[in-house]
Amino acid sequence: MTRPLLVVGPPHSGKTELAESVARHTGCELLHADAANLDTQLADTARPAAVIEVDSDAWLDRRARVLALDRSVVVSVRNGDGHDGTIPTSHEQFATAALWKNATTSFTEAHKVVDFDREELTSISGEVAALWQRCPVAIAAGERSYVVDVGQGITEQCCLESLIGHTTLLLITDSNVDKLHGTRVAEAIQATGARSVKVVLGAGEEQKHLGTLSEIFDQAQRGGVDRSSSIVAVGGGVVTDIAGFAAAVWMRGLRWVAFPTTLLGMVDASVGGKTAVDFGEAKNAVGAFWQPSAVICDVDWLRTESDRNYSSALAEVVKTAIVGDPELFALLENEGNSIARREPELMIDVVRRCVRVKARIVGLDERESGLRAVLNLGHTIGHALEAKGGFGHWTHGEAVSLGLAAALKLGEQLGITPSDTAARVLKLLRSFGLPVDFERSDLTAATELIGHDKKRAGSKVRFVFVKRVGEVSIQWLVLEDLRETMRTLAD
Ligand SMILES: NC(=O)c1ccc[n+]([C@@H]2O[C@H](COP(=O)([O-])OP(=O)(O)OC[C@H]3O[C@@H](n4cnc5c(N)ncnc54)[C@H](O)[C@@H]3O)[C@@H](O)[C@H]2O)c1
Ligand SMILES: [Zn+2]
Repeated sequence: MTRPLLVVGPPHSGKTELAESVARHTGCELLHADAANLDTQLADTARPAAVIEVDSDAWLDRRARVLALDRSVVVSVRNGDGHDGTIPTSHEQFATAALWKNATTSFTEAHKVVDFDREELTSISGEVAALWQRCPVAIAAGERSYVVDVGQGITEQCCLESLIGHTTLLLITDSNVDKLHGTRVAEAIQATGARSVKVVLGAGEEQKHLGTLSEIFDQAQRGGVDRSSSIVAVGGGVVTDIAGFAAAVWMRGLRWVAFPTTLLGMVDASVGGKTAVDFGEAKNAVGAFWQPSAVICDVDWLRTESDRNYSSALAEVVKTAIVGDPELFALLENEGNSIARREPELMIDVVRRCVRVKARIVGLDERESGLRAVLNLGHTIGHALEAKGGFGHWTHGEAVSLGLAAALKLGEQLGITPSDTAARVLKLLRSFGLPVDFERSDLTAATELIGHDKKRAGSKVRFVFVKRVGEVSIQWLVLEDLRETMRTLAD
């Protein structure tokens, strides 16, 4: 199905009435799904759109839930905390209460959680229909679930929706973004009616250290930013990483909203809840997992991003397409020129697809154990090349492009990557002006840096290979073997 709307909720929450009302409101067919047929219904591409009321049981399986979130818009109906108010005393009652708690958490993983109110059913249906139309991406993170909106010119509206009702906002941005877009941001914030305290950081990775946090906290304290305030981050990945971390620790945690202004900020830094600053040479060494309350990707901002930064981010986009979206890969091949020109309609599609892939992978692998490692494609050698150049020679994205090229060659040599797949990816990277040819000396030196923390003989590294576009494979390689093969690659 191309555009399903799922209505979920615990028993007796009113989800049937809401589903019926939205179906009437939009003129769409109403279906019912249970654990046995939810997947089949979602995969039914013949049907353009429908409202599907989903059984509670079907929603408890996390895997099914994440996949459903990936393919549809989901509205969850809340009915209080779902139990009768008795305090559990016996073992069984405790077990039931715990089960209920897990179940209620699962109902917070949705694009929107609504309170059922028969009096207001019409206006709730209207809001739900509008959300369905807008089609944001939901990130499943238990009670800290949130949505990523992608569009053009959406900053003002989303700013209002996500920040209205606040008395104080702490706006964090950087000097480049402030010079180019400060007026627009100020107007959008002013429209919320909140008082704002603005911190303008210097631009660039050099700002990602503890000293910058201390400056932010100084201004937060002077400006009366307390637990009821929100932090608003407007900038690239550096700003969102710093602001997110400030939000995680100031007053033991504030709400924060991200407005990423670079392509990397939108496709990569906006999903996953990782926030951090660097410590000396160690990148992202001090940080926390702290989910934003909302992420708004307005492709308007991309128009002013520098060419080098923009094309570097395209390396991550190519990586994401290989890992989880072959259609995106084909789009990049066919629409290369328009993407290089940053055409808004296309960029909305590209950003939304990347966010979906990352949301799906991160959602299925909450604790960063296995699946999430596929996102490291191109990064094992890429990181080493980046470090070898002293973090100044190559941008991160350029190093990833080189790392991806090396992973393809290595995969070819080991019989994992077909030659035509490798050639296809290299051609695409080249078309975006990304580097794929490495100097022998660079590669040899970088090879020595791979897993430099693992000195023991026989230690292994996890390496991601490309099997075809849309499928990667993770293998453990003995470090010395990897180094040996890398040496022969550079010949
Ligand atoms: N948290 C995560 O999961 C995650 C994921 C990927 C990357 N990151 C982090 O993101 C950072 C890199 O992100 P980045 O590439 O956005 O870097 P950045 O924030 O330094 O931005 C790059 C440059 O572009 C400027 N800029 C930003 N938006 C602009 C705009 N709209 N127009 C003109 N100039 C603009 C900035 O001032 C800066 O000079 C790294 O620190 C990296 O660690 C984090
Ligand atoms: Zn990366």
